[in-house]
Amino acid sequence: MTEAATDPVTARVVLDGAYRVSPVPRRLFGSFVEHMGRCVYGGIYEPGHAEAGPEGFRRDVVALTQELGITVVRYPGGNFLSGYDWTDGIGDQQERPVRLDRAWKAVESNQVGTDEFMAWAELASVEPMLAVNLGTGGIQEACDLLEYCNRPSGTKWADLRVKNGAVDPYGVRLWCLGNEMDGPWQIGHKTADEYGRLAAETARAMRRVDRDVELVACGSSNSGMPTFGSWEATVLEHTYDLVDHVSLHAYYEELAGDRASFLASATDMDSMIRGITATADAVGARRRSRRRLTLSFDEWNVWYQHRFPGEDALDYATERHLIEDDYSVVDAVVVGDLLMTLLTHADRVAVACQAQLVNVIAPIRTEPDGPAWRQAIYDTFALTARHARGEVLLPAVRSPRHETVRYGEVDVVSSAATFDEESGELALFLVNRSPDSSAQVEVLLRGLPARELLEHVVMAETDQSVTNSAGSPDRVRARPGSGADLRDGVLSVALPACSWTMLRMR
Ligand code: AHR
Repeated sequence: MTEAATDPVTARVVLDGAYRVSPVPRRLFGSFVEHMGRCVYGGIYEPGHAEAGPEGFRRDVVALTQELGITVVRYPGGNFLSGYDWTDGIGDQQERPVRLDRAWKAVESNQVGTDEFMAWAELASVEPMLAVNLGTGGIQEACDLLEYCNRPSGTKWADLRVKNGAVDPYGVRLWCLGNEMDGPWQIGHKTADEYGRLAAETARAMRRVDRDVELVACGSSNSGMPTFGSWEATVLEHTYDLVDHVSLHAYYEELAGDRASFLASATDMDSMIRGITATADAVGARRRSRRRLTLSFDEWNVWYQHRFPGEDALDYATERHLIEDDYSVVDAVVVGDLLMTLLTHADRVAVACQAQLVNVIAPIRTEPDGPAWRQAIYDTFALTARHARGEVLLPAVRSPRHETVRYGEVDVVSSAATFDEESGELALFLVNRSPDSSAQVEVLLRGLPARELLEHVVMAETDQSVTNSAGSPDRVRARPGSGADLRDGVLSVALPACSWTMLRMR
């Protein structure tokens, strides 16, 4: 059914306690810290700042990271990774070389490296997800870094870690085998066969250093890549039995005022997940393998890429503001919907990292020598991470549909839900993707003990263009909703145009 854009629409959702997807993977609430712009320097690390500890990490940023509910953080890149020599970033900080970062045309001081990041991860109580350089680097560098991080003392690199102050091995489990190696912009870009062979040999060697690592093979940089799908098929022919996850990346933006398409971005993420899962399973079937790979959606977010002039237009600089997008409620709704899509595919998406954490296309913004504050996209992420607990449920949705330029006909209303047996709490997330019509939703709750509405929160703004700023950091926040009615196992709620809603029941 296609609705005219301004008609109020009614959607029906059935939630059944028996339709379960999988437990909520806590690693879905990941983030990404790259040596890029002011993510590391001036972001997590600003020695001399009033909030910085003795090692230079800003405690206000750590607190916001924890409040955001971040569970895992990918580091150190990104495109930066593909030209990075990790040995530059260890040992006495005074002795570290200053290098050209050719990925982002920056001057890299190397004041933050592996040991500093591991200390920050501990401070923020997040799991580290490290990456090995397969652009200019190779098998040896990867194994050396793994030895440095995970082996006990008694060999060269492990002893160096001990000498540098970390007596116990870090025991890092999650490792990315390179970054976006399908992209011609990547330093050391490779064909699928070249990368597949290198990733397979690196994986084999790394497992000899530590057999317990979980390895991520590079998938496509986005669904518009000419090799999307065929890249994964070829790479997995080489690596299927040697890796655990295959990566996906996706960034979305509103183009030429086409808000309806932008608000439907999650439909692209949904088809990417379905397509790459099918591709991986097809490779597995050809190999008669009983293994099932999972996905690592380790870069996703809203990014206004059309405003970024590109790396070639940059001059080498030390610390610079790079892609510090200001987010609106529209972006917050899209972020909420993307996270709902990841949740709904929790049986196959094991890891996800919003890119990035601070300043660079990020939910957290810092002022040099000043405060740290929440961007508009902060709340939809934080509330989902906090309340999506227990098991993911599979909602049956009958939504009116509307036409979009980029994705054709899409559901106007999307939903995701989780049920936590322990607390008896049901969390329901709803998005109205219509830029200008409100929607009425009726949710039939079956086999779920939901009698009482605990919380109703809405992210919506009459002026969809407003953003937060240093002077007005709480202008766009999720706020208490009203008018939801829960009676005899039926929940009725109105969704404003372009909105994200969370309802918690028990
Ligand atoms: O997150 C910004 C950049 O986007 C990353 O460095 C790269 O992996 C991707 O293209």
